[in-house]
Amino acid sequence: MAVKHLIGLNFTSENDIQTILNTAFDLKNHYGAALNTAPKSLSDKNLVLAFFENSTRTRMSFELALKHLGAGTLGFTSDSSSIKKGETFTDTLKTFESMAVDGVIIRHPHSGAAQTISSLINKPVINAGDGLHEHPTQALLDMFTLRECFGKLNGLRILILGDILHSRVARSNIFGLQKMGAHVSLCAPITLLPAGLNRMNVSLYSNLDRALEDVDAVIVLRLQLEREAGGFIPSIDDYSRHYKLSEHHLDKLSKKVFILHPGPLNREIELTNTIADNPFSDSRFQSMILNQVTNGIIVRMASLQYIFC
Ligand code: NCD
Repeated sequence: MAVKHLIGLNFTSENDIQTILNTAFDLKNHYGAALNTAPKSLSDKNLVLAFFENSTRTRMSFELALKHLGAGTLGFTSDSSSIKKGETFTDTLKTFESMAVDGVIIRHPHSGAAQTISSLINKPVINAGDGLHEHPTQALLDMFTLRECFGKLNGLRILILGDILHSRVARSNIFGLQKMGAHVSLCAPITLLPAGLNRMNVSLYSNLDRALEDVDAVIVLRLQLEREAGGFIPSIDDYSRHYKLSEHHLDKLSKKVFILHPGPLNREIELTNTIADNPFSDSRFQSMILNQVTNGIIVRMASLQYIFC
């Protein structure tokens, strides 16, 4: 049987996305907060969590997902490995394979790293974010959260706001949401939009008020200063003045809007504290940011089941 991978949503079918989301809903309905009582369907598997770049939410939720499914986890960080002694990426990967691990969950600063690994070792590879390329499980958990909010994805109008240029989350969400029938629009300074968007069937805005007209939810993105985003804008103050999501934008809208952000947040640069910290459902806007974190564990369990079961 061919080895299954989860490298990106660009080449994942609508059917497979649906399968993962449905599995995640089943897990949530059956086990709720007691995910540790779910069947240990991966108890004969050992996976490497190979993180070549910093992470809090993605790493910890994969660790918990693996634990809930009974899998063994081999933690790997480039800082404490033989990479520091000059070992090549390929040799490190071959080492994992020689230890007979059952799969690799990889985060890497280089776009395409997950694809490269899948051609180097004959084991399932799950992309936990590679450079500017894709971050499929983040988009899946965003879609899961949106489906919880609205009961569907088809026909929703979703705005992605911020540093699209450097965002693997944006790319995976564009591919995934469009496959599920949502309409995606983007709002960013022109310098933070990637080339090739005209092939992606998205609406583009540079004015935030215009972009917000008629949206159901906004996915706010982090300004990726470690990837030199600062060089693409006049200043952080200027960026915030034009693109920080604030109450005054949302108060004038005719319908309630749900707010998502993959985290980590640059508070008061991308969105105000008031918006980020407002989980109340009776409000004109509702932050789903912590729900996304909770849902990340369930969606990653579902993704692992899709690969291995
Ligand atoms: C995102 C990532 O690392 O790509 N965060 C995450 O996985 N929770 C987005 C970001 O870092 O801004």
